[in-house]
Amino acid sequence: MNPVTILGIESSCDDTSASIVRNGLMLSNVVAGQEVHSLYGGVVPELASRAHQQNIIPVVEAAIKKAGIDKSEISAVAFTRGPGLLGSLLVGTSFAKGFAQALGIPIIDVNHLQAHVLAHFISQGNENETMPEFPFLCLLVSGGNSQIIVVHSHFDMEIIGQTIDDAAGEAFDKCAKVMGLPYPGGPHIDRLAKQGNADAFKFNKPQIPEYNYSFSGLKTSFLYLLRDKEKENADFVKENLNDLCASIQKTVVEILMSKLRKAANDLNIKNVAVAGGVSANSALRQAFHDYAIRYEWNVFIPPVSFTTDNAAMIAITGYFKYLKSDFCAIDEVPYARVSQKL
Ligand code: KG4
Repeated sequence: MNPVTILGIESSCDDTSASIVRNGLMLSNVVAGQEVHSLYGGVVPELASRAHQQNIIPVVEAAIKKAGIDKSEISAVAFTRGPGLLGSLLVGTSFAKGFAQALGIPIIDVNHLQAHVLAHFISQGNENETMPEFPFLCLLVSGGNSQIIVVHSHFDMEIIGQTIDDAAGEAFDKCAKVMGLPYPGGPHIDRLAKQGNADAFKFNKPQIPEYNYSFSGLKTSFLYLLRDKEKENADFVKENLNDLCASIQKTVVEILMSKLRKAANDLNIKNVAVAGGVSANSALRQAFHDYAIRYEWNVFIPPVSFTTDNAAMIAITGYFKYLKSDFCAIDEVPYARVSQKL
């Protein structure tokens, strides 16, 4: 059988990315970020779409070149169909359709969240790679989502818990913003927390039933703490920046892990994975290692390059769909939101 070579395209938010995956092995993964948003303290959808238009052709060209293949070897084009920013998604979707039409090959639509989970199955050709066995639990934490998912198979995923308001990444970014840190604030909190005392400040944890999360109350109590302390000392944030970062990070990680532990316990699942942008967080990664020892979990933590938005995860999902001949019609359109079932 000829090798199955998938071109993956990701453009759901503010990263333009293209990747080549051949028979499950990643040959290239090129990501172009968009600096323009840092001026505004968040992603500006209109600017994101324009930047995707500028980036998409050079990024795809670079991915093909880096993979050392010719475009005639591509079997299908997989693209992020949603959820995400519609204008951004339209750029990737339209490009994928045009490119595939020109080559006479099929297109494969990919759910971005499902792809974050399936990033665990990208092979980089390393000898000691381990991939999760089904069923496993996946904590999917990003700027827009905080979910606990039971993964029964590649395409049978059940969301058993999710945030009822803000996502974990949003909580990091909003707390960072009120401390005057640049956007996105999550990585800055992570960096500064390394020098801080995580027990310096205490925050109430939300009491939400089942496996759901809530982060908006935490964000508000963080805001109130800063407001009250700054009344007494205008330099409060400056003088306590590292401790504030360490304390808020510890609280977010504890909230995430306690629900995950409850789910693992209730469902008696020992294979536990993490995915999404926030899984780059060093304290969250450490918590996974600690829980692996304490509760005898088999934990799966992706390389940092596969935690944030990337096209390799789109290409691997496309690869699995290709094997099922699960292709998409040319007139399918992107979607901004996603339903309960992945
Ligand atoms: O999955 P992702 O790249 O994209 C979207 O959700 O669109 O996630 C981005 C989120 C942001 O909120 C960012 O602050 C957060 O992931 N993030 C982190 C870290 N790296 C990225 N949060 C905490 N610690 C980090 N090291």
